[in-house]
Amino acid sequence: MDKKRYPIGIFDSGVGGISVLRELVALMPGEDYIFFGDSRNAPYGTKAPGEVQRLACASAEYLLSRGAKALVVACNTATSAAIQILRNRYPYMPVVGIEPALKPAVLSKAHPRVLVMATPMTLREEKFHQLMMKYEEDAVIIPMPCPGLMEFVERGELSGPGIETFLGSLFRRYLNRPVDCVVLGCTHYSFVRPVIQKMLGGSTAVFDGGKGTARETKRRLAECGLLTESEERGSVTIENSLGTEEIRRLGRFLLEI
Ligand code: DGL
Repeated sequence: MDKKRYPIGIFDSGVGGISVLRELVALMPGEDYIFFGDSRNAPYGTKAPGEVQRLACASAEYLLSRGAKALVVACNTATSAAIQILRNRYPYMPVVGIEPALKPAVLSKAHPRVLVMATPMTLREEKFHQLMMKYEEDAVIIPMPCPGLMEFVERGELSGPGIETFLGSLFRRYLNRPVDCVVLGCTHYSFVRPVIQKMLGGSTAVFDGGKGTARETKRRLAECGLLTESEERGSVTIENSLGTEEIRRLGRFLLEI
């Protein structure tokens, strides 16, 4: 079969990366997709980098065994820990990662106060420090690790008093003044964007890296001559290491909301 017809493989530590999958499908509806969520081993953000590297390599190998023509690491944490390892392993194919969308947030107004919500690992890794150094003169950047937040999304608890209490105590600890923008530096957090927006007020701009990652994937596929020429809508397969009916249902729900 023509390589262009092979699927794009996407993985995350759980269901969060479906927020990136949605952007990919919206931008390239003719492609086929296989999404692998590793909920059984979630969360990644509070593990050691070596453990996340091992898990990321296992997910990548699995997607390759399913015929993936390109890999999208739809997880900021796995990108910060393992993207270089994956690119070294698979130099012959596009391997696209995601990182906190700091640039558009910093450029959105003059010297903004920017809150970056992400996992402890993403904020601790060298990749984020480099990114922060690039923009620290143009903005006040407040990194806010959110251990425990992805678990709400994994449970399908996207709104309600539980998550509001959780977020409220984080915001109280990190914010003594309002912020201009929030960067959602974890793919799970895009699914709780409405509650974050509601709690921080309507004038706070919220950014995530999903659309940028989808655009970069399209650019890399085109560069490698791997974009499908099919006009028909492609297929979307969602798999999860938990293998339960509950997680399958949540995956389908998140793809469609
Ligand atoms: N979805 C992941 C990310 O984008 C992380 C969640 C986790 O496993 O801790 O960082």
